[in-house]
Amino acid sequence: MTDKTILRALRGEILPTPPIWMMRQAGRYLPEYRATREQAGDFLKLCYNPELAAEVTLQPIRRYGFDAAILFADILLLPQALGADLWFVTGEGPRLSTITDMAGVTALKPTAGIHETLSPIYETVRILARELPPETTLIGFAGAPWTVATYMIAGRGTPDQAPAHKLKDTDRAAFVALIDGITEGTIEYLSAQVEAGVEVVKLFDSWAGSLKGQDFQDFALEPTKRIISALKARHPGLPIIAFPREAGQGYVGFAKATGADCVALDNSVTPEWAAEYVQVDGCVQGNLASHHMVTGGQALVDETRRIVKAFSQGPHIFNLGHGITPDANPDNVARMIDAVRST
Ligand code: CP3
Repeated sequence: MTDKTILRALRGEILPTPPIWMMRQAGRYLPEYRATREQAGDFLKLCYNPELAAEVTLQPIRRYGFDAAILFADILLLPQALGADLWFVTGEGPRLSTITDMAGVTALKPTAGIHETLSPIYETVRILARELPPETTLIGFAGAPWTVATYMIAGRGTPDQAPAHKLKDTDRAAFVALIDGITEGTIEYLSAQVEAGVEVVKLFDSWAGSLKGQDFQDFALEPTKRIISALKARHPGLPIIAFPREAGQGYVGFAKATGADCVALDNSVTPEWAAEYVQVDGCVQGNLASHHMVTGGQALVDETRRIVKAFSQGPHIFNLGHGITPDANPDNVARMIDAVRST
């Protein structure tokens, strides 16, 4: 089992061809995903239906033969399990009840209660552990505390995370209590995913880039470090990927400081820079701009080869810099994989 290419790269091995998977690989750009979501009723019903969630997780594996499958779920299921109301507005995105003060934080459910809501997710993992091809690695995930907090505070996605910054700067005690609560919940949630059968976990800190200076240390780096050390204490050897998206200079030393086995890179940094300053510490993942999945052509092939070449002297998992978008052309995904595997 330890021969799986993703696990080898995460242990620091340099492979002749980087293993590959893709953020949001199960998603709306695939007609078979849209059909299964329709069958489930809506996105949240799909997340909580283990048979159908396993089916959409497997779809991109069957179609493309990616080296890893990522559990089909969402980072906002944990807030829901902690007691937030959650719904999705079609064409707009997630909506949640908002948290604006300490009373809102203390009204959340205790961490031990999350499994009641999240047990279907663990069932999805158990199905996948049985059904995935033996060479495919199963990745579990959660949002990092800051990113999850931005949604719990604002009640929706925000371009600049202003409501979360405001709570951080005006009611520090409530903000820190929220970050702590999410951190505890995330440890329990990821630990249960591992017990159900995921082999790697990834922490998505999609809005890490809006934390600057000391805030980045306190609310991106520190919670990630706490989660990683708790998970590794419970599950020795568990490989962990951290994705502090748009961290820029903050990527440098992030793996060492947090204990992550791999840092996932967005495409705001060049692969040549990241090879020199980030990959020196170990495995990196990334970082093709996802617009190439829409535009295709020779630029897609050239940029893919450039990334493979830049990272060829160290451990690397090929991926996009962020999730594939619904307007992507499925044929471009096949072209990307061909370009990686034929370089
Ligand atoms: O294939 C995979 O990557 C695994 C499943 C997965 C989803 N969301 C499914 C999903 C993962 C890993 C996520 C992570 C996630 N969810 C993040 C972090 C990564 C990132 O994109 O920055 C965030 C911020 C969320 C919260 C979220 N979920 C938003 C803001 C939205 C709406 C925007 C959008 O893309 O529609 C979602 C919905 C969502 N999560 C979809 C999928 C496939 C689309 C919903 C649909 O099918 O209608």
